[in-house]
Amino acid sequence: MSNEEEEKILLESIDSCRLLVKERSRLLGRSLTYHVTTFGCQMNAKDSEKLSGILEAAGFEREEDELAADFVLYNTCTIRDNANQKFFGHLGSIGAVKKKNPDMMIGVCGCLSQERSAREKITQSYPFVDLIFGTHNLFDFPQLLYKLLTRQVTKGKGHLISEFWDDTDRIVENIPSRRNYKFKSGVNIMFGCNNFCSYCIVPYVRGREKSRASSDIIDEIKRLADDGVKEVMLLGQNVNSYGRGLSEDINFARLLEKVEEVSGISRIRFMTSHPKDLSDDLIDVMAASKKICRHIHLPLQSGSSRILESMNRQYTKESYLSLAAKIRERIPGIALTTDIIVGYPGETDADVDDTIDVIEKVQFDGAFTFIYSERTGTRAASMPDKVSAKEAARNFERVLAKVQETSQKRAKLIEGMTGDVLVEDINRQDSSLVTGRLSNNLNVHFPGDASLIGQIVRVHLSECRGFYYIGERA
Ligand code: SAH
Ligand code: SF4
Ligand code: F3S
Repeated sequence: MSNEEEEKILLESIDSCRLLVKERSRLLGRSLTYHVTTFGCQMNAKDSEKLSGILEAAGFEREEDELAADFVLYNTCTIRDNANQKFFGHLGSIGAVKKKNPDMMIGVCGCLSQERSAREKITQSYPFVDLIFGTHNLFDFPQLLYKLLTRQVTKGKGHLISEFWDDTDRIVENIPSRRNYKFKSGVNIMFGCNNFCSYCIVPYVRGREKSRASSDIIDEIKRLADDGVKEVMLLGQNVNSYGRGLSEDINFARLLEKVEEVSGISRIRFMTSHPKDLSDDLIDVMAASKKICRHIHLPLQSGSSRILESMNRQYTKESYLSLAAKIRERIPGIALTTDIIVGYPGETDADVDDTIDVIEKVQFDGAFTFIYSERTGTRAASMPDKVSAKEAARNFERVLAKVQETSQKRAKLIEGMTGDVLVEDINRQDSSLVTGRLSNNLNVHFPGDASLIGQIVRVHLSECRGFYYIGERA
């Protein structure tokens, strides 16, 4: 089926849902409500905006309280075991609520539902779930929703509605979307992952890598700009390999140049960069750009070449260090942040020393540090020499201490300077302050009101407080 046909079916299914939602609302004497609960990464957050967009186009109204909505949809993550546990915690409590309110509808989608063993656990142990679908079936959501609503309206007996594919190469454009922020937006540039890092579940639950046509990406960004968006975050598991497999002659650096030309967009970010594919061309484009933010998230995972090889990361300690040095030299003021895994099978104290050495040498501006979590079906899951929880925790603390040291040092370097801040929100603790982000991704809090939200303002960085700034308008 062509993309246009898929798009047409999707929109028609939404129309059919709308009639049922209307009928149900009439019987209830109020609007039907929904709540989408999102776990995991920016890509899931983006998918949730689409799921919410579809639900609103079908006539549902957003309900802030998860436990009070007529339809609750969980968009799940399974990157580490604690992501699974968090979700099952939610599912347990919603089960108790549904007992009192049998008309409530519960759906599960996202990465965890794509994983076979987790899916089996849901279908066997949580029989109150009405709908479950996989990551390759987001475009089928309106049709599945239609089935679910039909069952509700006709009071049909409930058995699970489900749809799963192992993979897909379809990309459907122009899905309705409900954006979380008016002034910034994620934009998918590619889906899936082909890298098969030995510890990682993503290639199994998100399928093979596929890039969107650049014209579709640019059209979306133009529409976003027309709608008031100032900052776009280009999303992919490995944005540096963007364009592979497309018939057009394009790569990530060329795509960035095209995005740069979209008027109305002031800031461009991207996530995530795999070190093995970060080209000199990209560094040049960033160095010359007025819009690309001074920040690269460049996951290291480990500083030990031996562990990196076992992880299938395709770079070494030395090549990572020279890449980081080159970026720092060619793009002054750039922030480098990273992800680190501690406790990978076979990791010794000496390997962790290597990781700490890289943190020290690169002087990371920030890092997410994770304890290795075994994922069923990945290569690392069957490796010998598992690291004990105690050892992992001890090394985790060592790594964390070093990361905190370098990131505080880096943050402090710009104290007393001024910088442009995109204001995102009112400060949660102190409502006389607003909170925003510098180009290098550091948070700044300064006196201001809601009228500043979505604006880029010049701020004097008066006081560094560890990892963030207190400032005042310059
Ligand atoms: N595509 C991105 C990473 C996405 S997952 C990249 O390649 O950089 C985000 C982070 O989760 C990874 O960078 C890694 O540090 C961490 N992670 C992935 N699988 C993990 C596992 N099994 N245990 C612990 N951390 C893991
Ligand atoms: Fe996972 Fe590696 Fe793909 Fe990132 S690049 S999503 S860590 S397999
Ligand atoms: Fe989680 Fe899936 Fe993202 S496993 S981190 S939500 S791609």
